[in-house]
Amino acid sequence: MTDDDGEVTGLGSFPVGARALVIGAGGGIGGALAAELACHPRVASLHVAARDPARALARLRELAPGSGAVGASRCELLDEASIAQAVADAAAAGPLHVVIVATGVLHEPGVLRPEKSWRSIDSAALARAFAVNATGPALVAKHALGHLARDGKSVFAALSARVGSIEDNRLGGWHAYRASKAALHMLVRNFAIELRQRNPAALCVALHPGTVDTALSKPFQSAVDPARLFTPRRSARALLGVIDRLGSADSGRAWAWDGQPIPF
Ligand SMILES: NC(=O)c1ccc[n+]([C@@H]2O[C@H](COP(=O)([O-])OP(=O)(O)OC[C@H]3O[C@@H](n4cnc5c(N)ncnc54)[C@H](OP(=O)(O)O)[C@@H]3O)[C@@H](O)[C@H]2O)c1
Repeated sequence: MTDDDGEVTGLGSFPVGARALVIGAGGGIGGALAAELACHPRVASLHVAARDPARALARLRELAPGSGAVGASRCELLDEASIAQAVADAAAAGPLHVVIVATGVLHEPGVLRPEKSWRSIDSAALARAFAVNATGPALVAKHALGHLARDGKSVFAALSARVGSIEDNRLGGWHAYRASKAALHMLVRNFAIELRQRNPAALCVALHPGTVDTALSKPFQSAVDPARLFTPRRSARALLGVIDRLGSADSGRAWAWDGQPIPF
């Protein structure tokens, strides 16, 4: 597994005193992103949202013991009121420069199992994948895009997956996950077009984090070359580097951890 022991990633393209929100901070990559942002010298305020905010905050204290005050809210993607409240809590400190949606589902006991054939299509599984991977981030966007800062660059980024690329799909399978991430890509493109009119320096993008050692990838890791399996910290640092390097012309697209574009 590959980690990154280097310096904290620069966020030099954002104003000093940036405000950040991470939704899904209880997850593997979301927790690592929150930990990086919590200690970042350019970030003045961090808010985290999770289904269990106390657990997410406790984990953040473990990963980033030196971090300052961090706000936390409950956020369940199947409950729009909780999303609205979490975003409002974060934006109470001022307009947001970085909003990352780090939630997602690939498998869930009794509900969702990556399909190998069309014969396994199940309406409840499809509905759950779409609710968490597409509708949830869209609802976060509904409440958060209007709070993006206008005093410089700001970014709304939803974690997606390379397998959500229609163009790149050579293997098939994983129908619900792939289709829900492809739907997320369309939503990201649509929101970016609308955002450009309202806040030209703001970006809306999807990000592929690489293959990362988290609960989501655990059942599939045996097929992964250890050199290509990232720690959550390595992925989080790479993703913040990508966010830092993106400009307004890069909005509305999907970007991988190494800064390469992923075709929709
Ligand atoms: N790991 C990989 O190799 C990999 C590869 C490609 C893409 N990704 C993408 O990266 C993102 C993060 O995944 P991860 O690897 O960090 O997985 P993870 O550790 O399982 O984290 C998933 C997160 O999603 C949250 N979540 C799931 N359902 C939710 C709901 N209904 N409401 C609110 N939150 C919900 C979980 O909340 P709880 O903490 O409350 O359970 C958790 O915080 C996902 O979008 C995933 O598709 C991951």
